[in-house]
Amino acid sequence: MQSLSGKTAVVTGGGNGIGFRLAHHLGREGMHVVLADLDPESLEDAAAALRGANVEVLAVQTDTSRQESVEALARAALDRFGRVHVVCSNAGVGAGGPVETAPLETWERVFGVNIYGNIHCLRAFIPPMKAMDEEAHFVFTASSGGLLASEPMFPFNAPQYIVSKYATVGLAECAYYQLLGTKIGVSCLCPSATNTRMGTRGGRDVAAIEAAARQNRSIEQVERNRALMAKGQDPDIVARKTVEAIKQRRFWVIPETNVLPAIRRRFQAIMGEGEMPAPREWIDD
Ligand SMILES: NC(=O)c1ccc[n+]([C@@H]2O[C@H](COP(=O)([O-])OP(=O)(O)OC[C@H]3O[C@@H](n4cnc5c(N)ncnc54)[C@H](O)[C@@H]3O)[C@@H](O)[C@H]2O)c1
Repeated sequence: MQSLSGKTAVVTGGGNGIGFRLAHHLGREGMHVVLADLDPESLEDAAAALRGANVEVLAVQTDTSRQESVEALARAALDRFGRVHVVCSNAGVGAGGPVETAPLETWERVFGVNIYGNIHCLRAFIPPMKAMDEEAHFVFTASSGGLLASEPMFPFNAPQYIVSKYATVGLAECAYYQLLGTKIGVSCLCPSATNTRMGTRGGRDVAAIEAAARQNRSIEQVERNRALMAKGQDPDIVARKTVEAIKQRRFWVIPETNVLPAIRRRFQAIMGEGEMPAPREWIDD
């Protein structure tokens, strides 16, 4: 999509972090922005900040883990702006614990937002995007933790999170192939540690996430991960690179390249040419 000006973008998880910066940069390109977030306070603050930068904004409180909530979001966006050209399916939560003891509820909660949230957005937005027959683009926010399980820095080293992001990468690749030959492009954004509030107030149930994490991991581990995120990439850089990819209709968006050698080693292991990358090998802490 070369020209974004005057068109409409929907950003889920737009109240904070990467989603808010995506909304900001899409707004700077002249897009109308539909901000969706579970947390009403974040949504209000983010919408006010964007309006202050002269962006036309519709804020819709949304729980992406619920299909009917995402359908209501799509209806609100279409009622207000008529068409949707860009969807950033970005809302996500971090949580987790050991594969054999983490409560099933943790798996369900993380999959609800991080996997089903994307599925709900595809189901709600791809049909009207196809019907409008104009250039459009769908962005999945996955993670470098969706390409590499030895990724050390995701909140609480959570297998539930990693699995949800592997699923997101798979879903993005399937959508890419299914939409080839249409006017809808697809990108898969795989950030590494990014300096956001994920794991501190990312979503309404952060207290439950932390309680689960503290049962399964030491406080030191939780705090260490937070410290790693604080040293992570600026979400503004992640968002800028994503908007470039939307304009160039590029699939992969890997904003932090220090993860690439470990990903290469993983593929070399798949090819029978070496060992799996060691946990934490590319981290400088
Ligand atoms: N921060 C990182 O290190 C990092 C790294 C890789 C990938 N990611 C991914 O980037 C995306 C954005 O994360 P972030 O770091 O900006 O986190 P963040 O916590 O700063 O922002 C996430 C936003 O999503 C909202 N949200 C949570 N659950 C929701 C739901 N069910 N429905 C709608 N909104 C919901 C939260 O209220 C919050 O405003 C996530 O998918 C995350 O997994 C983050």
